[in-house]
Amino acid sequence: MTIKNVMVIGAGQMGAGIAQVFAQAGFDVKLNDLSEEALQKGLATMEKFLSRNVEKGRMTEEEKTETLNRVETTSTLNDANDRDLVIEAVVENMDVKTKVFQQLDQITPKHAILATNTSSLPITDIAAVTERPEQVIGMHFMNPVPVMKLVEVIRAIQTSDETYQTVEETAKALGKSPVEVNDYPGFVSNRVLMPMINEAIYTVYEGVAEPEAVDEVLKLGMNHPMGPLTLADFIGLDTCLYIMEVLYEGFGDTKYRPCPLLKKYVSAGWLGKKSGRGFYVYE
Ligand code: CAA
Ligand code: NAD
Repeated sequence: MTIKNVMVIGAGQMGAGIAQVFAQAGFDVKLNDLSEEALQKGLATMEKFLSRNVEKGRMTEEEKTETLNRVETTSTLNDANDRDLVIEAVVENMDVKTKVFQQLDQITPKHAILATNTSSLPITDIAAVTERPEQVIGMHFMNPVPVMKLVEVIRAIQTSDETYQTVEETAKALGKSPVEVNDYPGFVSNRVLMPMINEAIYTVYEGVAEPEAVDEVLKLGMNHPMGPLTLADFIGLDTCLYIMEVLYEGFGDTKYRPCPLLKKYVSAGWLGKKSGRGFYVYE
């Protein structure tokens, strides 16, 4: 199957980026969120990074306008009724995601593929709430979506080969590099990345070093583009906590225990860059 049109559910930092890369690659895109405010915020993010591409000579003003014209915003999920592919990028919460998938299963055409951008939740369980589990798959983009090359493509145990191949080809059509992985907690990306971030938070919690020092060690010592605490703020501390909880519950191993300091920050609403405060303060 060739995908011609898509809907992205959730216009947050990931959803806006996913909608942008699909529109840039010529797909017809619908972007859905709960409120007009969230949709306008997503569009403003897209506009900002597309303008930057124009300034840098990577795109003409006309191409930018054409790209934005390919994106239609809607707060009505029923507008998914003519889509070939839906990519869900709402909050990392199983109840919210399964409700969205149950609705999409009723709304979308029978041939449509339903993908989730979840960072860690079981794709097999999400597929199981639909009547088309073989057409459900993980399509895990990395943040910031327009910049990062990887799409981790996660097969649920029920995912068909045809669905996998369609999603792999679609990721390539976006100029991304798909990598195939199987459905276990955290997949590959967050099973490796998130324990490092959690451990970095423990070093602050135990007074080993200040956040700036921890970040400097990883940046200057290991050539990471961002230190782990800057990266945690960038991802969102709520998302980091959800992922650690999925690893902890999924493997039942104390090595994945979320750091109490991470829990405390999330309880305080210090979610990182998106809320203005995390390990650092943002203007
Ligand atoms: N959207 C689009 N473009 C963006 C962007 C965004 N949100 N943020 C930065 N960019 C672009 C900038 O416009 C800039 O482009 P040009 O200069 O070429 O125009 C380019 O990225 C580099 O940005 P900067 O010069 O401002 O800063 P930088 O050199 O530090 O790079 C970075 C920024 C690319 C984000 C880099 O710091 C980086 O690679 N950080 C690590 C990112 C990472 O690890 N991502 C994975 C997170 S884990 C995940 O996503 C999975 C999960 O489930 C949690
Ligand atoms: P975010 O908080 O920036 O955005 C989530 C958006 O979803 C919000 O705009 C919210 O209004 C909307 N939303 C919530 N419930 C909805 C519903 N029922 N219908 C429509 N919209 C709804 O979150 P994010 O960082 O963009 O993360 C989204 C997903 O992507 C999560 O599953 C997360 O784990 C995953 N992810 C995040 C990152 C990251 O670095 N932040 C990287 C890869 C994957």
